[in-house]
Amino acid sequence: MYINFWYPVCTSDELANDKPLRATILGLNFVAYRDSDGKAHLLADTCVHRGGSLSKGKIISGRIACPYHGWQFGGDGRCRLIPVLGEDGKIPARAKVDAYPTEERYGIVFAFLGDEPEDSRAPFFAIKEWGQEGWRASPLRIIELDAYFERSIENGLDPVHNEFVHDSQGNVHYKPECTTLESLPWGTKVHVTMDPPKPGTTQLENLREDDKPEHFGAYSYHHGPNGLETRINLSKDNSFVQYFWEQPVDADHTRIFFINMRNCMLDPKHDERIMDINLMVAGEDVGIVNELQPKRTPESSAKEILVIGDECVGRYRDCLKSWENKGWRIDMKSLQENRGDIVYTVPCPARRTEKNWVLDSVPIRK
Ligand code: FES
Ligand SMILES: [Fe+2]
Repeated sequence: MYINFWYPVCTSDELANDKPLRATILGLNFVAYRDSDGKAHLLADTCVHRGGSLSKGKIISGRIACPYHGWQFGGDGRCRLIPVLGEDGKIPARAKVDAYPTEERYGIVFAFLGDEPEDSRAPFFAIKEWGQEGWRASPLRIIELDAYFERSIENGLDPVHNEFVHDSQGNVHYKPECTTLESLPWGTKVHVTMDPPKPGTTQLENLREDDKPEHFGAYSYHHGPNGLETRINLSKDNSFVQYFWEQPVDADHTRIFFINMRNCMLDPKHDERIMDINLMVAGEDVGIVNELQPKRTPESSAKEILVIGDECVGRYRDCLKSWENKGWRIDMKSLQENRGDIVYTVPCPARRTEKNWVLDSVPIRK
């Protein structure tokens, strides 16, 4: 798992105005809450006094109050009140927890989990079609996986599995010569052209009437380690663009935030049916990905056999390696071993300029 990328935290609906919420991301606990203006904040969950869980506390005057002795922390992570010291009590400089940049878009609260300065950060993975005329979003859905997130992204990039996993999509046959890979600054795009589904085999064939085979095709793009965009051109004018923001809960569980954009069947009455079809297809992927062994992608190439059609998976892994080389990969083994003795958190941007942090910065793979 990797620091220094944007991660989905929760849906906007999950984050009430009057109650904090615990979010587990990258195997670590965070507290999300809204201040008096409704702005969402994300902080490390562990109180630096004596380890209370802030997500079990209360929101008081726009601050999060620890449930143990009532210390209050602002959205910037600084402690603003220590009740036992009184209103004018001097707050120790070290009384602060990590606070992360947040963005709330598309009904999702996102946070940048890392200390990379703003100008060199991976850009936010935005929906290009959002708000554009002629496009409509289906309602946000969450897909839960009992699997490591990298396995899921690799599945999304893999053009070969479709005809074996997705019967309902017309058993579209993959041809290796019709694949091209494109490297972009923060990910890889796999373009695929295929023969269109045979009539009577796909639930969306009403969108393909009178169209030419060459208009059928797709691409998948991974943005950072955990973003995925899949565009399916059903015909010349009818497309779906699917956005997945993956939240690695821990090394065995993933929550995927999913929005489908479309430029056809724009009447809202089609939302449910289209989402039902999408979720049925996603469910077929989940059934496969949950059963993959080992749970995490093997570290040794001797433990798999990659062949033609797996190039996009190889490119994704190359990208992950490049981010590991930047010092962004969490050392999960060391984190697990020390759990119970050390509280780790992702370093926040303020650690670049301030010293004196109580919580330990998450161990990084060397
Ligand atoms: S542990 Fe949080 S206020 Fe004491
Ligand atoms: Fe699939």
